[in-house]
Amino acid sequence: MNNFTFYSPTYFVFGRDKEMKAGHYVKRFGGSKVLIHYGGGSVIRSGLLDRVKESLKAEKLEYVELGGVMPNPRSGLVYEGIELCRKEGVDFILAVGGGSAIDSAKAIAAGAVYEGDFWEFYEGKPVEQALKVGTVLTIAAAGSEGSGDSVITLEKGMLKRGASGEAIRPVFSILNPELTQTLPAYQTAAGATDIMAHVFERYFTNTKEVEVTDRLCEAILLTMVKEVPRVIEDPDNYEARANIMWAGMVAHNNLVGVGREQDWTSHALEHELSALYDVAHGAGLAVIFPAWMTFVMKQDVNRFAQLAARVWGVDMNFADPEETAKKGIERFKQFLTSIGMPVNFRELGAKEEDIPQMVKKLGLGDQYTIGSFVKISSAEAEQIYRLAI
Ligand code: NZQ
Ligand code: ZN
Repeated sequence: MNNFTFYSPTYFVFGRDKEMKAGHYVKRFGGSKVLIHYGGGSVIRSGLLDRVKESLKAEKLEYVELGGVMPNPRSGLVYEGIELCRKEGVDFILAVGGGSAIDSAKAIAAGAVYEGDFWEFYEGKPVEQALKVGTVLTIAAAGSEGSGDSVITLEKGMLKRGASGEAIRPVFSILNPELTQTLPAYQTAAGATDIMAHVFERYFTNTKEVEVTDRLCEAILLTMVKEVPRVIEDPDNYEARANIMWAGMVAHNNLVGVGREQDWTSHALEHELSALYDVAHGAGLAVIFPAWMTFVMKQDVNRFAQLAARVWGVDMNFADPEETAKKGIERFKQFLTSIGMPVNFRELGAKEEDIPQMVKKLGLGDQYTIGSFVKISSAEAEQIYRLAI
């Protein structure tokens, strides 16, 4: 196991009706003037936004609001939010929604207290200062409710990039599984795929002797394999929703990733798909991940066979672990198909002829590579995209 530090100070409030406490927690964490930030309207239709406003009023907190965050959130609204915060003297941003609303809130929070262009953070500058961010989560997926990361798309060139920093980790996150019951099945499944992908990006590692995090990863994956079909079948199943919602947080606040090298190639390859076609991030991952797995499997056949046996229930073929490993990847694809996810370019609506453009936008060269389980440069990235066709 490698050396590590782990500090994940978000205060989680989990359970039914907890959104009514939003105002209480804003106050507790020092907010006095709030920007409520949300997406395209699901929180208006469900009545959640009104309930959150009530809770702010009950604490006599002032607020302004900015809706309209699109999935794969854009820089344009971030600039608007930064200006609004400065004009109104906002000191706390409350994101009500999914990863997109939360990531946009984090970008505004960082940009509002920075004199330069907020996009610099998405070109590699660490975020060291930001307004405080709290969240009321409505979809189990990105894990942004517990992460110090934000992913934004710059409209100019449609560049989708990430920023990181402890300053943008939410100070509190309210997780009420009931709020996810209004999700369309496709979004539920895309979110679930993203959660599993966050585990895989950590699971496939060259670091040896990482039994505890291996086992934690497998526990999350086994939970997803059990619970996702239950919510697809019965969207109002609170207990299954609750398990998935907590899995989404645990999969990405790095509890299961400490002490080991992580990979993240599939996320980088996927971000080019969601930037180009504006598809759900999780759906893009459903297409990329099996292709990446097939491409890198030989790096550590035993690790793939271990996953196949422990998570997918494949009988271990000790004489031929590669056979076990391949069956595991096949079972994963079947699982994705069974929950309604695309598993190739055609099903996603991506085009083979766009592959060179995606590879170019990744900006890789012989020297600059992504990934750590297997290092990927342009040539390999192209091969993985082609395996996904
Ligand atoms: O915009 P509204 O109207 O709210 O509709 C949303 C949106 O259309 C809808 N939705 C959300 N909750 C709902 C609901 N509809 C009905 N009922 C509800 N309860 O679902 C759609 C997707 O929402 P979005 O916020 O985009 O989903 P998600 O949480 O998957 O976020 C995706 C974004 O997160 C980034 C992705 O790249 C993508 O841009 N990621 C962020 C990460 C992070 N910050 O740590 C890590 C991830 O790997 C990921 O890259
Ligand atoms: Zn993701």
